[in-house]
Amino acid sequence: MLYRKGAVEGEVAGFIYNFTSSLKYDRKIAKATVKVVMAHIEHLCEINAISTNVCHKILGTLKELYDEILKNYPNGKFEDIHEYIEYYIVNKLGEDVGGYVNLGKSRNDQVATAIRIVLKDEIINILKGVIKLQRILLNKAKEHVETLAPGYTHQQKAQITTLAHHFLAFYDALDRDYERIHGSLKRIDASPLGSVAMVGNTIPGYDRVRVARKLGFSEIVENTEDAIASRDFILETIFNIAILMNNISRIVEDLILWSMNELSYVKLPEHHVATSSIMPHKRNPVTLEIIRARAAKVLGYATSAYALLKSLPYSYNLDLQELTPILWEIIDECKEILTILSDLLSKIRFDEKKLLKSVSENITLCFSDLAEYITLKYGVPFRKVHRVLGEISKRKHITLHNISEHLRKKLSINIKDRELEEILNPINSLKRKSVTGSPNPKEVKVLINKRLRSLLDKESKLRSKS
Ligand code: ARG
Repeated sequence: MLYRKGAVEGEVAGFIYNFTSSLKYDRKIAKATVKVVMAHIEHLCEINAISTNVCHKILGTLKELYDEILKNYPNGKFEDIHEYIEYYIVNKLGEDVGGYVNLGKSRNDQVATAIRIVLKDEIINILKGVIKLQRILLNKAKEHVETLAPGYTHQQKAQITTLAHHFLAFYDALDRDYERIHGSLKRIDASPLGSVAMVGNTIPGYDRVRVARKLGFSEIVENTEDAIASRDFILETIFNIAILMNNISRIVEDLILWSMNELSYVKLPEHHVATSSIMPHKRNPVTLEIIRARAAKVLGYATSAYALLKSLPYSYNLDLQELTPILWEIIDECKEILTILSDLLSKIRFDEKKLLKSVSENITLCFSDLAEYITLKYGVPFRKVHRVLGEISKRKHITLHNISEHLRKKLSINIKDRELEEILNPINSLKRKSVTGSPNPKEVKVLINKRLRSLLDKESKLRSKS
């Protein structure tokens, strides 16, 4: 209780102290906070605000503390890690030396700086996790360029696609997540240090940019009030992760559906399923279910973070302390989910025969192709063809012959069975898709190669950041 000896005094009951202390959550920023104090002290010495002797002693003690802070993490009555660090130094060196440690800085700029340092690393970790997942998806896509699969809209079988194309859809969503998260780095990578409580310090020569550089920041958060009050960089991260989780939970939902006995398109890896304590045959998709549930929790965190910041008056309020643990929680969830999903997808097996059967047993999946074909070749308005093919689709038994009969009757066109067979063949259906980005295997190979190149580029850029 370093600070309760002036304006406020006296022992505070433990249960009240614990209520307002952030010490237990500050473990995550403990080392970064020591680094921040070191950079500040070094700078105070450079500009002769403190003596070299005081500086060396404080820096020496901070180095010791840096090595041991996580091993001997404090659990006493401290408001936060910031108080503990100052207490540690004053306790070791006495107030005549240690008493200088908080000159020209406050907990407000210190905490915001430490959070940004840790967050920068965590963002890189998350980006690496996203890239790993993307690489797995791209490998799967390469394996399945020609694996036919039913595509769904409204959860009804719609048209023919390939597994590769489906994976690439998910890959591209992850690409946008990557870009969003990567884009936020620019805003996180700015130092609040030297903003002190809210209006900076009066120490001649204190150079915020120089201290920022020492700490590896690219720039400073310029306005000193903005620097200590703003947490939109946290909100942005939380929402970026929430969007990533949203994308992930959609693919997870697909996999759960695809593993249903009725479909059985996928066989989930053994380590990702669990059985029932009573029904011996069960293979429950447990990791996918937990991912789906966690994604829901993440949305909950995002809403609490938003609510916490909304209408919070300028500048620093202790409410901000409650935001930081949400950030770390969501980051941990995100990293874990990326690891689990990557493992699952790298080992998943698809039942290509089932997929093919599901595609071929339903000739109507190519009816939209047929409608386009008839419109273009025989000059019949699309809406008319659509109606006539819709009538056919209601029949219990659809054969090439009764299709051509019906078309002859209703549209007065003479379409040969061979011609129909050609159009309604699932593989031909894919090959006839001509637009950019379609599941035509030729086009998918182009998409894969393009993505392989950009993935390599992102991987090498990330390597240089860590
Ligand atoms: N524990 C606080 C936090 O995490 C540090 C800043 C406290 N500032 C203050 N004026 N009490 O945000």
